Amino acid sequence: MTTPHLSQFPTGFTWGVATSSFQIEGSTFVDGRGESIWDRFCATEGKVKNGDHGEIACDHYNRFAEDIALMKSLGVKAYRFSIAWPRILPSGSETEPVEAGLAFYDRLVDALLEAGIEPWVTLYHWDLPQALQDEGGWLNRRIVERFVHYTEIVAKRLGDRVKHWITINEPWVICHLGYGVGEHAPGLKSIRHSLLAAHHVLLAHGAAVPVIRRHVSDAKVGITLNLCPSEPASESPWDIEANRSFDGFFNRWYLDPIFGRDYPADMVQEYTERGDFVDHATWIEEGDMETIAVETDFLGINYYSRAVIRSDKVSEEENWERTVFDDGPRTAFNWEVHAPSLERLLLRLTNDYGAKAIVVTENGASYPTAPDANGVVADVERQAYFEQHLSACASAIAKGATLTGYFAWSLLDNFEWAEGYEQRFGLVWVDFDTQQRIPKQSALWLRDFWS
Ligand code: FCB
Repeated sequence: MTTPHLSQFPTGFTWGVATSSFQIEGSTFVDGRGESIWDRFCATEGKVKNGDHGEIACDHYNRFAEDIALMKSLGVKAYRFSIAWPRILPSGSETEPVEAGLAFYDRLVDALLEAGIEPWVTLYHWDLPQALQDEGGWLNRRIVERFVHYTEIVAKRLGDRVKHWITINEPWVICHLGYGVGEHAPGLKSIRHSLLAAHHVLLAHGAAVPVIRRHVSDAKVGITLNLCPSEPASESPWDIEANRSFDGFFNRWYLDPIFGRDYPADMVQEYTERGDFVDHATWIEEGDMETIAVETDFLGINYYSRAVIRSDKVSEEENWERTVFDDGPRTAFNWEVHAPSLERLLLRLTNDYGAKAIVVTENGASYPTAPDANGVVADVERQAYFEQHLSACASAIAKGATLTGYFAWSLLDNFEWAEGYEQRFGLVWVDFDTQQRIPKQSALWLRDFWS
């Protein structure tokens, strides 16, 4: 394994760690915060492992000062966190925001700046106000104006201090897992609906960008996509065909429209044939694709793993099957560790899409490694994961990739959505009984790497 060196990254490169509101904050019904779809989902039996929920999580709402001190001690230069929409607007669309909610993020931002850490705000990382879900959530086009209203409030309040903005985190997960297969909140199961939701998610992004720019001088704005580079399992035409389809479903459906290429024609045809994209003439309005293709300052990408695609159902409707090779090492989540795919992805975004700036807004791995008898968390696999993926980034940069920043996921072990607290992605171990934090060996390695 090659060891990455800081000198392989350009000066001004952003080094950070990431979290999201629902996964760490806790205090779910404190200071006027409204119910989110994830509170509801957690309260629904059988949706989240072990009946876990976000009510306490990492208690970050109360312990943010300690967590910022921790970041400072780890040499973190930038912190990507998200705003909980229901803390600002409990039912999603009130005219006046909740002062206590805004005040919390004020305190957080001020403490970060004081610690010399640059705040990167994500406006939507999945905790939609439940009241908006009750009017259809991302299926109802009204959500676009709701999101713009919320964006405007937050941008006005924090824009004097926050210069980096991410509109939306991971449209594919929001839409496919939330509306397509029901593994995430709100737990709906219709591919047709997931495509409608995706259109509104992308539209909300496009509509919010100029609003952020209007209220924030020198704003740098982007969206974060989770991308999964894929490859065919063999040279067989069926595998190649299945791979095209997987790539279209996972990556191109989101990448193409934000880069002004419209929805990919092959996927439009495929979804139309399957009956999933039949009524779009009623919901794609004139000007929508231009709104979605709004110019941004960077593309955020979350990379965890690749997919190797083998087709074994060529005669049926869904003619691809995702297969992951067995010989690669896996994380505890059973995601294959495959750093070369990150290099390939960065080069594709640079060369095929012309992305002028790419930021890895999440990259990391889940392993259960716990403190040993001396209180040391020797997470050697996670450290190796970071070494490999940073080497892949360095190599991509050497070949011309326009990568300008990297955020490790995640600062803390936290609430990993449908997996509850079972999957630990933290650089810092969290004892969920005592809320004690212990930086893992991987965190110390990163500190030494980027300091
Ligand atoms: C991403 C999410 C993030 C975290 C990681 C493991 O899909 O954005 O919140 O759950 O996966």
